[in-house]
Amino acid sequence: MSSNGLEGIVVADTSISDVDGERGKLVIAGRDVERLAREGFEVAAARVLAAGGRDTDPAALRAELGAAREAAWVVLPRLGDALDAPDGMDALRSALAHLHTGDDPVAAIGAAPVFVAAWSRRARGLAPLAPDRDLSHATDYLRMTRGMHGDAAAVIALDTYLATVIDHGMNASTFAARVVTSTGSDLVSAVVAGVGALKGPLHGGAPGPVLDMLDAIGTADRAEPWLLAELAEGRRIMGMGHRIYRVRDPRAAVLEEAVKPLASPRLSLARAVEAAAAKILRERKPDRSLAANVEFYTAVLLDAVGLPRTQFAPTFAVGRIAGWCAHVLEQRRTGRLIRPASRYIGAAA
Ligand code: COA
Repeated sequence: MSSNGLEGIVVADTSISDVDGERGKLVIAGRDVERLAREGFEVAAARVLAAGGRDTDPAALRAELGAAREAAWVVLPRLGDALDAPDGMDALRSALAHLHTGDDPVAAIGAAPVFVAAWSRRARGLAPLAPDRDLSHATDYLRMTRGMHGDAAAVIALDTYLATVIDHGMNASTFAARVVTSTGSDLVSAVVAGVGALKGPLHGGAPGPVLDMLDAIGTADRAEPWLLAELAEGRRIMGMGHRIYRVRDPRAAVLEEAVKPLASPRLSLARAVEAAAAKILRERKPDRSLAANVEFYTAVLLDAVGLPRTQFAPTFAVGRIAGWCAHVLEQRRTGRLIRPASRYIGAAA
């Protein structure tokens, strides 16, 4: 029997992260996600890169990332119409493909926020803003997007988010990046493959639709009928369910906590919708625990820090690209060509 989703198949030994779906525990490069999230993006990126095999000091990485953002800014005029794409993931995929930075992970990690922010501003009819190498990655990303220094609470929340989503076991985009690397291809090709996989709504494309759902529901009392109607139409509830977790995704709790200081008007509605969705899904699928995943509170958090919903999936990529790069390094050091088999069910010759 083939397993079309490859559930439970181990395809690599890794030091980068471990997902315990039964207990709802996520360890990234030797840290619980709750602690790593508090330490912020530069520390998290340094830790995953080190786990992948590139010794990296967080303070040095902050400076390297600043320089990499500036280097990406220089590439911007050479991107042609890449940033005209209506979809931010399409724009990021095309823009990253213009990098000729070899196997330098920092060049790719630094370029992502510059390209995404420039795309976002262009989509809103605004000129792109040059990076400031002296700022933290999260601060600069927010400033390049919004055109002003974000308030401290928004920067902390975004920094927490980028660290929280930095890596997550053998998810689809990480697997895609490792498959490309396993052929001996280059790092940029691997991260471009990662962006392509992350774009899909079953992976990283859910937070925009989660916000659409909260808007459509409007008030807590409308949650249950709205969700029932959605399911009756044969649609899934976005932000709920997970391939690995059999309990609530631990990142949902981290992000729910990180939203609190932002006083989002959507937080209480989101909690009510989550509770209603969990109850309905429990009744429908008593043998399958379908709880909130990372995307549910991602939507509330990124909205509260002032990012447009079209920028949610690309912002996921801005954080996750560091994880992809760590996996590229690890795959290159320890991996072997990934080449599974298929079972032929076509016509006989
Ligand atoms: N809403 C309604 N039903 C859901 C559901 C959801 N969010 N998630 C799973 N189910 C149902 C499936 O329809 C399936 O029912 P069936 O057996 O009658 O066909 C059952 O639960 C098992 O789901 P399955 O497809 O095996 O789960 P999976 O592990 O393949 O899928 C996700 C995991 C994440 C793709 C899935 O939960 C989903 O589509 N969630 C919504 C999108 C989302 O939030 N994506 C972000 C992921 S981080």
